[in-house]
Amino acid sequence: MPTVAAPVLRSFSESILLAAGVPAHKAAIVAGSLVAANLRGVDSHGIQLLTFYVDQLLAGEMDPHAEGRVTSESGSCLLFDGQNGIGQWIAETCCGHATRIAGQHGVALVTARESNHFGACAWWAEKMREAGLIGIVMCNASPIVPPWQAKQGRFGTNPICMAVPGPWLLDMATTTVAAGKVFKAFINHQPEIPAGWAFNAEGVATTNTEEAYHGMLMPLGGYKGSGLGFLVEILCAVLSGGAMSNEVGGIRFRGKLVRTSQMFLAIDVARYMPLEEFTARMESLVALVKSAPPAPGYDEVLVAGDPEWRTQAERLRNGIPISEGNWETLVKTAARVKVAPPE
Ligand SMILES: NC(=O)c1ccc[n+]([C@@H]2O[C@H](COP(=O)([O-])OP(=O)(O)OC[C@H]3O[C@@H](n4cnc5c(N)ncnc54)[C@H](O)[C@@H]3O)[C@@H](O)[C@H]2O)c1
Repeated sequence: MPTVAAPVLRSFSESILLAAGVPAHKAAIVAGSLVAANLRGVDSHGIQLLTFYVDQLLAGEMDPHAEGRVTSESGSCLLFDGQNGIGQWIAETCCGHATRIAGQHGVALVTARESNHFGACAWWAEKMREAGLIGIVMCNASPIVPPWQAKQGRFGTNPICMAVPGPWLLDMATTTVAAGKVFKAFINHQPEIPAGWAFNAEGVATTNTEEAYHGMLMPLGGYKGSGLGFLVEILCAVLSGGAMSNEVGGIRFRGKLVRTSQMFLAIDVARYMPLEEFTARMESLVALVKSAPPAPGYDEVLVAGDPEWRTQAERLRNGIPISEGNWETLVKTAARVKVAPPE
């Protein structure tokens, strides 16, 4: 399994994107966001996504030159048309608007339609956190999740993420796991996935990776996850006027544009209390939560964000381990656009 330093992986990814026709400033943003996910241990949303993005670009199904445009802005509300541009570029632009508007009005709600896959939500929510804001990010996604009691996909894995000034960051799919974890098992020829992750194409629970890859993801916690996925669909797609449910395409499927919608909600903490006070309160709350005695089989209590921050510190020191299947796929993708792998 190759272990690659983050800057090397970033520059390899950037070269692939450039060769696939992405302008340099956008290639840097995409590569930066993907490698950041690998650094955090969220490999489902790291460089594994590049192959799908390159497929889309080479098929002419994502426009690397589209800038997106503000459709309307009124008070704290902004509607953005992504014009089928690069998802990370649209998210970067929308985070900029959300941060600006939250500074003016205390709260900003930006929704984007006609966008593309933007990777892990945390990268975008963290941008708002860095500006002293609470950042909440959601998106709809490829309809590979059946509604509760159904056997055909209608929702995406529709993630919800919230970052705050302080030691807590929740970033989760509204399915048991993100679809990328099933893709990762498939790409790396792992025959089995854990129970509770997926259904086969007939809507029957499966642990067979291949069946799951061609099947569907399970809503998190039954009808409650289904309800959360619906909530995300409303705030992203219904509110933005974008593609809803199975009008959305998918990064694995050619012949249909992805057309995802995204939502960026920013809350200016300083409108409620000084930023330092909020951060200190977050630290106290996390300490209170962690003071609960660990259950049998555990030696500590963690909060959201802990696993990823720990992995990030370790991978910054020692490099990013890339599974064989992922590395092979990435090198093949690079070869398609005539880019040589790093030594
Ligand atoms: N762009 C898209 O279309 C899309 C769609 C779905 C998911 N995603 C991304 O997929 C990524 C992975 O999602 P996931 O649901 O598989 O994540 P996950 O299940 O690995 O983690 C979910 C959350 O649980 C927290 N957590 C993990 N272990 C914990 C513990 N022991 N105690 C307390 N908290 C703990 C993590 O910090 C994280 O915030 C996310 O970055 C998400 O944004 C993207």
